[in-house]
Amino acid sequence: MNREKLPNHIAIVMDGNGRWAKNRSLPRLAGHNAGMMALKEIVKRTSTLGVKYLTVYAFSTENWKRPETEVGGIFNLLVHYVDKELEELNQNNVKVRIIGDYSKLPKKAIQKIEEALAKTCDNTGLQFNIALNYGSRDEIVRATRLIANKVANNELKPEDINQSIFEEHLFTRGIPDPDLVIRTSGEKRMSNFLLWQSAYSEFVFTETLWPDFTPECLEDAIKEYQRRVRRFGGLK
Ligand code: FPP
Repeated sequence: MNREKLPNHIAIVMDGNGRWAKNRSLPRLAGHNAGMMALKEIVKRTSTLGVKYLTVYAFSTENWKRPETEVGGIFNLLVHYVDKELEELNQNNVKVRIIGDYSKLPKKAIQKIEEALAKTCDNTGLQFNIALNYGSRDEIVRATRLIANKVANNELKPEDINQSIFEEHLFTRGIPDPDLVIRTSGEKRMSNFLLWQSAYSEFVFTETLWPDFTPECLEDAIKEYQRRVRRFGGLK
């Protein structure tokens, strides 16, 4: 892996927790728990490598369709993760940010999120973006509504709306687009994740289930990224 040519922003769809658990005849939540431990190691490695942004899809706007016990269990894991890891994240200079409307989460989860945001807001190392109650279509509709309100209030003229104004109204405001998007567990789709932002991202799909995704797997994905030629619609 070429340490000079690291992706600035890595985004990950952490898929396969359920199948990992099923393969072991364990409850699905055991898979999410194992997934959380995998995530912990990936955050550490991205941080030590010097990657600037890591965004993970932890809970989508569609995940509410899952059984209540699984949904509640994922948020309990989030609370547990913050309780256990916040101190170390902070020591490692990691800055936590949330993308998505987390106001709809259980109160306890909101409190923990706000604790993590407040504690790490001045950190200057890895920015760790957690997508919670996030969906790209929801994000794009919200941005449109915010912009329409500004137009209605004469704060903005329709002819002044451009891509950079639009981006300022997305949850990802201020975050550069992902260079590398990784999806684990063999599925090859976006599932409503960073649709606007990944217009020119490189995709790496791996069969590895998320709980088995080690920092070495991450480095393999980075190596694959480094073999790609990015043209952004232009010529080489
Ligand atoms: C997808 O696997 C995974 C999720 C929907 C949840 C991801 C959550 C974690 C990694 C742990 C929680 C961590 C935080 C920070 C909240 P799946 O359940 O769709 O797996 P399957 O496709 O095999 O069923």
